[in-house]
Amino acid sequence: MKTDPNSRRNFVRFLAASPLFASAGIDQPTLTRLFSGTPRDQSEAFGLVDELTAQDPTLIANAADALDVFDFEPVAKKKIPPAHWGYLITGTDDDATIKANRDGYQKWALRPRRLVDVSKLDTSVDLLGHKYDTPIVLCPLGSQRAFNSEGELAVARAAKAKNHLQVLSTVATTSIEDVIAARGAPVWWQLYATGDWNQTRAMIKRAEAAGAPAIVFTVDLLGGSNRETMFREGLLDTRNCVQCHAGGRPAPGVSGRVDDRDNRRKPALAVPAPGTPIPEVGTPTWDYVKRIKDTTSMKVFVKGLLTPEDAELAIQHGASGMFVSNHGGRADNSLRGTIECLPDIAKQVKGRAIVELDGGIRRGTDIFKAMALGATAVGIGRPYIWGLGSFGQEGVEAVLAILRRELEIVMRQAGTTSLKQITPAYVLPRNA
Ligand SMILES: Cc1cc2nc3c(=O)[nH]c(=O)nc-3n(C[C@H](O)[C@H](O)[C@H](O)COP(=O)(O)O)c2cc1C
Repeated sequence: MKTDPNSRRNFVRFLAASPLFASAGIDQPTLTRLFSGTPRDQSEAFGLVDELTAQDPTLIANAADALDVFDFEPVAKKKIPPAHWGYLITGTDDDATIKANRDGYQKWALRPRRLVDVSKLDTSVDLLGHKYDTPIVLCPLGSQRAFNSEGELAVARAAKAKNHLQVLSTVATTSIEDVIAARGAPVWWQLYATGDWNQTRAMIKRAEAAGAPAIVFTVDLLGGSNRETMFREGLLDTRNCVQCHAGGRPAPGVSGRVDDRDNRRKPALAVPAPGTPIPEVGTPTWDYVKRIKDTTSMKVFVKGLLTPEDAELAIQHGASGMFVSNHGGRADNSLRGTIECLPDIAKQVKGRAIVELDGGIRRGTDIFKAMALGATAVGIGRPYIWGLGSFGQEGVEAVLAILRRELEIVMRQAGTTSLKQITPAYVLPRNA
């Protein structure tokens, strides 16, 4: 059959833009060559289309088909381009701390109690006077339009539908004003300090003016991180990326500093602060927390703490709370799961501050264990991006619903009807 060259060109362009082809490393010049080549080339091209568009029966076709959050991961992998996938999955060095985060939950067993009336269950949590349906927080996670064209907006709509706290990253690809409008309520804002205090202060003021009640200052990347997996996956991506990335190669998060990235699509960073730059001398220390507090009326949280000593310092410097977090195993390769760090920190904090825990939360039982060991709330990162990359807003909503359902089951099974009732008495070390 003879096709009109214009429609063939459009078809090739359409295919080349599809994440399916990008993730398979097939770029536009290859497709053009195959479709305009010999009949053999053309048959190879149509074979590729068949292969890549055929539904793999092991993958879920709809968000509603998922049994657990892991069901979204392979679907997202298929839809997200390789370099962006590398950004999502990478840890540091050999990624061992990602595994340590997961393994940590296996070190704790449950001590369920019986014959408690569990017909009425309350999974809600109050954070800074706002009631959320569950303690599951959508952690700050950069560049969400790299995973789905709606990015942070789809996440905000899901957070609204399910009433969850969303924390927006400094390196988000959507502005805080638009995210708050889509969420229909304030979100918290995460800060990466820049090398120019004037710029950092302007960003803080913008978040405050947008209505964010809290600022989450991330402190676990100040020395940089070695993200080998991200680089290796990036090499599989043959697309021409100059449109979005200066120099053509995506390289976010290389040094851990925001100043040296390509910030064109990051609304918080793209606008230079009016006025003279005020260069930082050295990297931030605890005084910086006080400086933030003196700059804003927002509550201040410190993200990335792993020791009771730092938990105490955070409180002494006026923080309202902390995120016990190792950045999802992508900061330092500490080999310590965050859940292993939690008991000492909770003991030190003694209820004086809000304690969020994140890293490797994938099951309702993980959430239950974190609550038992002293967390006020828990955060998820990659799981909601699996949902976003697979099915957009619907996928994020499904991930939140699955985790909630699993949490409800374990709460009922353990004989606990509210989060407050989940105390250390409901868990014990597995080898005890
Ligand atoms: C792709 C990716 C980007 C992230 N971006 C940020 C960020 O911009 N700011 C931040 O404080 N944490 C960031 N994090 C860390 C998350 O907030 C969270 O601590 C972590 O993802 C939780 O672990 P989990 O992915 O195992 O659930 C990022 C994590 C991932 C995976």
